[in-house]
Amino acid sequence: MKILVTGGAGFIGSAVVRQAVGQGHSVVNLDALTYAACLANVASVADDPLYAFEHADICDRAAMDHILAQHRPDAIMHLAAESHVDRSIDGPGAFIQTNITGTYTLLEAARSYWEAQGKPEEFRFHHISTDEVYGSLGAEGQFTEETPYDPRSPYSASKAASDHLVRAWAETYGLPVVLTNCSNNYGPYHFPEKLIPVVILNALHGKLIPVYGKGENVRDWLYVEDHADALLTVLTRGQLGRSYNIGGENEARNIDLVTMICDLLDQHRPDAAPHADLITYVADRPGHDLRYAIDPTRIRQELGWRPSVTLEQGLAKTVAWYLENPDWWQPLLDRDGVGARLGKA
Ligand SMILES: NC(=O)c1ccc[n+]([C@@H]2O[C@H](COP(=O)([O-])OP(=O)(O)OC[C@H]3O[C@@H](n4cnc5c(N)ncnc54)[C@H](O)[C@@H]3O)[C@@H](O)[C@H]2O)c1
Repeated sequence: MKILVTGGAGFIGSAVVRQAVGQGHSVVNLDALTYAACLANVASVADDPLYAFEHADICDRAAMDHILAQHRPDAIMHLAAESHVDRSIDGPGAFIQTNITGTYTLLEAARSYWEAQGKPEEFRFHHISTDEVYGSLGAEGQFTEETPYDPRSPYSASKAASDHLVRAWAETYGLPVVLTNCSNNYGPYHFPEKLIPVVILNALHGKLIPVYGKGENVRDWLYVEDHADALLTVLTRGQLGRSYNIGGENEARNIDLVTMICDLLDQHRPDAAPHADLITYVADRPGHDLRYAIDPTRIRQELGWRPSVTLEQGLAKTVAWYLENPDWWQPLLDRDGVGARLGKA
């Protein structure tokens, strides 16, 4: 299959690109190379004859038309997005532009391309979204595919809007779509402004480790390679028009997660004092959702997918990867906004 992956120089998109090429698919990686992109993420496949790169913005309709006509993909996996909640609080405009207008532009380009080809039923537009569209849970319960949307940040609202657009294009124009809503990812190549890499890198540098509020927010952590595997499973075997929630079945409070990482660093890079001594509580993010948890019954029962690693195993692999790859993360620390406290509103 030939797959056009948008956002393939980002964290999750690059895992999809690497895995798809590894499975023998042809991949066109389309990316605008924003601050969050890193072409080193796909260096392992860059010279593979199955791989091609297109530097383009999904808001540019002419470029989308040209790339689709030139490469003639069988499917589009749409991951390009502004993805950092704290940045969405400080500057929501970029999120509206890329996540909503960009998705609309890509949908229209995909629709014309698909119609010009005679509307092949096997074509797929796979929209990759987040569990944050469902809002916040209390201590009990899990998000199912039927949970009503209740986004609470500019990021999650823009992703919810994009999900609605994709469903509307399926209902109104018959575009063959599948959607996935996933919990928090972690793993190698995670950009160093997100929680887990911030903890690892601050601890390594002996810097304070900021934990928002009381550290009681709960996330359902999914190892990025497991997410990429789930996405390729849904793309190739998911039911047309259906949504699938993808979760790691690995809930953890932020403070427990941070402590686990500190313990791993104590084992691999022992310091005079335990790394957990660096933990400091800072003012919470406004509108910080308390808890996300995914009910993964549908993807497990229909497609037989489940995560391959526990949080303990995935974190051990992730910490080991950051310790072995300073050449990857060191240059990213100088990028705009990295290391600053964003999203205080
Ligand atoms: N990170 C998570 O935990 C998580 C969880 C669930 C869903 N998601 C979704 O998965 C997708 C990928 O997330 P990520 O964490 O890899 O994001 P990321 O920020 O690491 O990467 C996003 C990529 O999209 C590219 N991009 C941004 N704007 C673009 C534009 N206008 N045109 C073309 N490319 C553009 C960037 O250059 C970057 O390479 C997003 O849609 C996100 O909403 C992420």
